[in-house]
Amino acid sequence: MSNLFKENLVDAEQTVLFGQRLSNACEFATCIYLHGDLGAGKTTLTRGFIQGLGHVGNVKSPTYTLVEPYELATWQVYHFDLYRLSDPEELEFMGIRDYFSETSHCLVEWPEKGVGFLPKPDLDLTLNYVGEKREVLLQANTENGLRVLNKL
Ligand SMILES: Nc1ncnc2c1ncn2[C@@H]1O[C@H](COP(=O)(O)OP(=O)(O)OP(=O)(O)O)[C@@H](O)[C@H]1O
Ligand SMILES: [Mg+2]
Repeated sequence: MSNLFKENLVDAEQTVLFGQRLSNACEFATCIYLHGDLGAGKTTLTRGFIQGLGHVGNVKSPTYTLVEPYELATWQVYHFDLYRLSDPEELEFMGIRDYFSETSHCLVEWPEKGVGFLPKPDLDLTLNYVGEKREVLLQANTENGLRVLNKL
């Protein structure tokens, strides 16, 4: 069983669909770090992830709020965007630990900005530009992460 996964995403629609597929493969609370340059598709993929769990409506980038919560039928999803975080210690003040629970999935854009104050991820997800298109790479770091890859 491989701890790596790779797929091409030819347009934004495919990125959304992949996000849906990913959320449906998460049986247990999962923490995912989202890597990739500006505009690579991290928020687009997260939109699919959240909609895949039953959310109807918009999923906006939490660039200024740092985190956007979603209360869904069976899961809470916390979508972080730490791009504007100036000091990782701010995460301590916002009670970062409480977001990571047995009943929540956490997706974190720009996790590099929170080094030292974030839990280790089950999955590292990277979106790379391939011309106009994208590819998604996943690396599982935990038993739970491996299960997710296996169910994709
Ligand atoms: N597979 C794809 N092929 C081509 N374009 C895509 C693909 N997936 C997403 N896009 C487009 O790329 C852009 C991605 O924007 P998005 O906000 O999701 O990026 P981001 O990685 O969250 O950026 P940021 O780091 O600024 O938050 C959108 O315009 C989207 O339509
Ligand atoms: Mg984004």
